[in-house]
Amino acid sequence: MNRQAELDIIRAAYARHVLGAAVVEDERLAAAFAAIHREDFLGSPPWPIIRWFRNGDYVPSPDDDPVHLYTDVLVGIVPERRLNNGQPSLHALLMHHAAPAAGDHVVHIGTGSGYYTAIFAHLAGAAGRATGIEYEAEVAARAQANLAPYTNVRVVQGDGTTAAFDKADVIYVNAGCTRPAETWLDRLADGGRLILPLTSGENFGSLEAEQMRRSGAVFRIVRRGDEYFANRISAVAIFPCAGNRDEASEQVLAEAFAKEGLQRVTRLYRHEDIPDDRCWVRGPGWALAYS
Ligand SMILES: C[S@@+](CC[C@H](N)C(=O)[O-])C[C@H]1O[C@@H](n2cnc3c(N)ncnc32)[C@H](O)[C@@H]1O
Repeated sequence: MNRQAELDIIRAAYARHVLGAAVVEDERLAAAFAAIHREDFLGSPPWPIIRWFRNGDYVPSPDDDPVHLYTDVLVGIVPERRLNNGQPSLHALLMHHAAPAAGDHVVHIGTGSGYYTAIFAHLAGAAGRATGIEYEAEVAARAQANLAPYTNVRVVQGDGTTAAFDKADVIYVNAGCTRPAETWLDRLADGGRLILPLTSGENFGSLEAEQMRRSGAVFRIVRRGDEYFANRISAVAIFPCAGNRDEASEQVLAEAFAKEGLQRVTRLYRHEDIPDDRCWVRGPGWALAYS
């Protein structure tokens, strides 16, 4: 068997493992994870891979075989700042909830070097498209180069909390925020899904599971007309979002994570006028509530 055929089998097995780890059954998503070559997005080997048994330090891959990338590992993009290509099983879970359909416009905030944007582009298909927005110029340049072969992808270097983009069926945010940006809620299409990680304080690096549960959560926000429905889909520890962290929201989020009720959240409001008994968290001009 030639090496390419072998790698195809390895990628198909990887896709099944990461969806299995995420407890997700989604044949389209598995096919997309199997189709995209992760090594095309992570620079030259050896790749810096996070190893939790070494306290979350980066350990270079033992050699330049791409097989090392087809496990459920985080890989450094800019290791000096712990900016990573995220964990595949977490993304499988979040992408499943984002539910990109063929023909959709997906906006990916925090594209990094482009790997998960490529998976979205595959899922959106020739009739759809993906817009990747990346804040860091050097990382955005890498994404532009890596995604050049994808005719349905556009990469923008800039701040995804303020950058203009066309109405989106999916807005997939990959950096920790303290609140939803107004532009995301404005530009979400009717029926569209916003995947939003909310984090309080220093929430990334190697956190213990309990600490993580207590300081970061990913919400899925679904727009119906002028209403926004919300539910919590995962705990998270993630690189902070530039331009979308305010101290007042950070403080109220820290208090909210310290109490119960996260699982009962069903609504996002674009104002803070919600009675206490219905409210999980209330920041300046926004709230997450039970009804
Ligand atoms: C956790 S990394 C994830 C990268 C990529 N999604 C991956 O998994 O390969 C978060 C990324 O979000 C970017 N970022 C942070 N704030 C941003 C903003 N306001 N607009 C666009 N990108 C942002 C960072 O520069 C970083 O590349």
